[in-house]
Amino acid sequence: MKLAMIGLGRMGMNMARRLMQGGHDVVAYNRSPDKTEQLVAEGAQGAYSLEEVAAKLNPPRILWLMLPAGTVIDAHIAQLTKLLSAGDVIVEGGNSYYKDDIRRAKELEPTGIAYLDAGVSGGIWGLQVGYCTMVGGDRAVFESLEPIFKSLAPQDGYLYCGETGAGHFVKMVHNGIEYAMMQAYGEGFEILEASRYAASFNYADISHLWNQGSVIRSWLLELAEEAFRKEEKLADIHGFVQDSGEGRWTVQQAVETAVPAEVITLSLMRRFRSRQQDPFAERVLAALRREFGGHAVVETKK
Ligand SMILES: NC(=O)c1ccc[n+]([C@@H]2O[C@H](COP(=O)([O-])OP(=O)(O)OC[C@H]3O[C@@H](n4cnc5c(N)ncnc54)[C@H](OP(=O)(O)O)[C@@H]3O)[C@@H](O)[C@H]2O)c1
Repeated sequence: MKLAMIGLGRMGMNMARRLMQGGHDVVAYNRSPDKTEQLVAEGAQGAYSLEEVAAKLNPPRILWLMLPAGTVIDAHIAQLTKLLSAGDVIVEGGNSYYKDDIRRAKELEPTGIAYLDAGVSGGIWGLQVGYCTMVGGDRAVFESLEPIFKSLAPQDGYLYCGETGAGHFVKMVHNGIEYAMMQAYGEGFEILEASRYAASFNYADISHLWNQGSVIRSWLLELAEEAFRKEEKLADIHGFVQDSGEGRWTVQQAVETAVPAEVITLSLMRRFRSRQQDPFAERVLAALRREFGGHAVVETKK
């Protein structure tokens, strides 16, 4: 099939490569032209404006957006709406909030331009392994694009999840689970590191071991093994952990539907905590203990 990839960052660039490997014709577009040129050298058709993207595709056009979630995607869709026609399909492959998908699909309805939401997982390993893809929107439109999903995904690695927003909803929950799994591994290794046996532990070997038939084997543990092999105590990095939208949206969703998602919520809070040094709340705790019980505090240097 022929399609445009709009946004050639860490994800879009390799997804375009995987699509070309799968025999698809890719029109490549990126804000900074150097990345477009890179892909042109590998066999893509280059486009240097959205007008050029539209002109290089034949109706019904297929355009895959791989951009930062939020206003950037809205701005691209607004511009594309003027260039596309009924029957064309926009696939939003970034990490959009599912409520944005619902709004966008509704806004596009009068134009006849179809909108699919595709949650994509696989990160920088996707080129080799394939991208696990979770799709929402009109089922017939999804089916018409199946050769594309098949090429992007590993075997059995894509799924039609339901009406508009369902793809990103499933991806959002996937990321919430990811937060909790990562947190559990992190805490487990910290308990090992704080133990009387720490001197004899090799965390790369333990990660490797746990991936041999154990209940907690996973790709995250494979990645942990690699990280520990690079730097045994991870001494080269700070424990400062960012979050992107999905963890927060998962927690918001749990609140909206009164689901007691304690573990995911706490793993999100722990990321916030990781970015603080000497937080105010803990100074309040220490001060209160001193006030009610005369307990010792560690004083700051004046
Ligand atoms: N990285 C992951 O593991 C991963 C996994 C799943 C989903 N996602 C999602 O996939 C999407 C892309 O992620 P990524 O990791 O590929 O991001 P990235 O490496 O930061 O690339 C972002 C892309 O968007 C373009 N861009 C950024 N701001 C723009 C703007 N204001 N106007 C036009 N283009 C703009 C960049 O163009 P320039 O080259 O000109 O800067 C670049 O092509 C995001 O929604 C992300 O959440 C990422």
